[in-house]
Amino acid sequence: MTTTEKSIKSIAPINIAVVKYWGKENEEFNTPLNSSISVTLHVKDMCAETEVVADSKFKEDKLFLNGREEDIQKNKRVQRCLNMVRSKPTLKRKHNEDATPIVRCHITSANNFPTAAGLASSAAGYACLAKCLGHVYNYEKDLSVVARLGSGSACRSMLGGFVKWEKGKCPEGSDSCAVQIANEHHWPELKVIILVVSSNQKSVGSTEGMRRSVTTSQLLKYRAEHCVPGHIDKIEKAIHSKDFPMFAELTMKESNQLHAICQDTYPPLRYMNTTSHDIVNLITKYNAAKLKAAYTFDAGANAVLFTLDEFYEELLSTLLKYFPFTNTEIESWINMPSSQVKELKTKAAELPDVCIHEDALQRIICTMPGPGASVVVSDE
Ligand code: DP6
Repeated sequence: MTTTEKSIKSIAPINIAVVKYWGKENEEFNTPLNSSISVTLHVKDMCAETEVVADSKFKEDKLFLNGREEDIQKNKRVQRCLNMVRSKPTLKRKHNEDATPIVRCHITSANNFPTAAGLASSAAGYACLAKCLGHVYNYEKDLSVVARLGSGSACRSMLGGFVKWEKGKCPEGSDSCAVQIANEHHWPELKVIILVVSSNQKSVGSTEGMRRSVTTSQLLKYRAEHCVPGHIDKIEKAIHSKDFPMFAELTMKESNQLHAICQDTYPPLRYMNTTSHDIVNLITKYNAAKLKAAYTFDAGANAVLFTLDEFYEELLSTLLKYFPFTNTEIESWINMPSSQVKELKTKAAELPDVCIHEDALQRIICTMPGPGASVVVSDE
């Protein structure tokens, strides 16, 4: 660094995988067993925000998460990102540049996810961090690799729209990075509805969960070798050609397969709860005559639904009918004006044998594909 002080602020979105990452090839380099594909969700509804200040006067690195100082030395993920952006090329090392003291930095990060959304995703946080560190330390290589060292799925939040995380071939993961399949403007009819499911269950974190699956699930190995390559190929084509039925079918099959592997893990992992399965049932019935919506679940009970503009109001209305909210403060439950919610109620589909589940959802977030991580303020 040439200047003594540098600061930058960035925001980054969360992303939802439609071809799932589940299992690491190498824990140290955080490389995956298979490639994956995701949709980046719009930052206007949910994002992480991070500021990094680097100053030659700082004696040590510091980390503040959601207003509280954390022990940065104990945070292996942040250390991996810092080591990567501060490592010097071999050529420079020969010229004794290792003697230059490392400029220390202070990192402040927060999520703007709606309270109690239960969507605290580390993906957005590490994408922000990578964006800031790259700028502050003049790191010129692919920043999705830096984000990946923090959290695998974070590499996909670096880019907007439809993103593939290429597994890569290099053992140390230098080519295990994110590439954009299509940007956020590619498929404007595609809409996303997040159903935040009320849950008291404390689930096993994804890092620990996938470690357990890698060591105990035979299905996981089969999936990585024989299922994912075909899914990646077909879903990429479906995205390019905006083929919703194909996209929806593969998205649901991928989600089902992830949770089948969780069942095959020993001891089994249970992320979906009764409400999650009730949502699967509702979407299955809703799709009986025509594929109009898709569900997907990650390592938790929340559902993310995809649909098209033409079915959007009908789907939302159907959700409001079968998963009603009994509290009067509707605005804090769904990010939509209450007048619009009232109008929607008349458009619901009639679904045979679907029960009404009052207050089973904590919140509904209506959103869409959006841009990747970006710089919001820089001192330059
Ligand atoms: C189920 O990226 O959180 O959401 O690399 O250990 O930090 P680490 O795992 P993480 O795993 C996400 C798993 C998933 C599927 C996905 O996003 O592809």
